Amino acid sequence: MKVTVVGAGAVGATCADNIARASLCEELVLLDIKQGLAEGKAMDMMQTAALLGFETKITGITNDYSKTAGSDVVLITSGIPRKPGMTREELIGINAGIVKGVTQNILQHSPNAVIIIISNPMDTMTYLALTSSGLPKNRVIGMGGILDSSRFKYYLSQAIPASPNELHGVVIGGHGDTTMIPLTRLATYQGTPVSSYVSAEVLKKVAADTMVGGATLTGLIGTSAWYAPGASGADLVKAIVRNEKRLLPCCVLLEGEYGQKDICLGVPVIVGKNGWEKIVDFNLNDEEKALFNKSADAVRTMNNILSSL
Ligand code: 2OP
Repeated sequence: MKVTVVGAGAVGATCADNIARASLCEELVLLDIKQGLAEGKAMDMMQTAALLGFETKITGITNDYSKTAGSDVVLITSGIPRKPGMTREELIGINAGIVKGVTQNILQHSPNAVIIIISNPMDTMTYLALTSSGLPKNRVIGMGGILDSSRFKYYLSQAIPASPNELHGVVIGGHGDTTMIPLTRLATYQGTPVSSYVSAEVLKKVAADTMVGGATLTGLIGTSAWYAPGASGADLVKAIVRNEKRLLPCCVLLEGEYGQKDICLGVPVIVGKNGWEKIVDFNLNDEEKALFNKSADAVRTMNNILSSL
């Protein structure tokens, strides 16, 4: 297995680090446009191999896509991150050109790769990568829902309190401060509804905190977060390279599922070696359906900007 991570910034490097630590592939390429950055971070990570015991060989590359040839999975993290007070949507102008160019370069050398989009605004970048490349829909996946669901479990774990590992909870919809939909009704603690442990009011706050989870971190750190985004990207790579057929919330093309079409949005999907394989219907109630449609409207408005860039 060969995996490429494009973008050696904090998110890309953390993805690479997590992929290597779990020995998810034999070969891992980290590529960046900034001279020496990927080479340096790759070398730094390789100097942990003897300490951590992983077998993945990481190579850092400056902008030479021929070195990514034959990748099975490619994560695109390139683009600018948001600063405090910015929304992910404000990044569209700069990041759209970058993501489109990177996708083309990647496919020239790895025509069969599954492409994972992490760059923001993630739903629109996923749609852009899919429509501009003409790839089969199952091979383009936006990562946001995995990250948002992990943040959801974190906030739930604080509220109950419980271990995040004993919680199940899924966030669907867009990967935006106002477009995320944490499905509190379906969240469980060891198989029992979380509503047995916390009031409706607390659950509302958990959902609200989850939605602005990324913005909270950007405010604290001064730039976009990377530990959870990097670990989420690596988790998605694991599901693909190990053909796990795991149910994960991911941003994929909808063609009538969940009442929407011609849009990439977060829904529960089965993930395996071919990318996402099947959308799972969670039977949303009327309130959740209304939120999903509202989220789709907002993401569609963002997608429409692509044609004017
Ligand atoms: C976040 O939510 C980077 O979009 C990412 O932190």
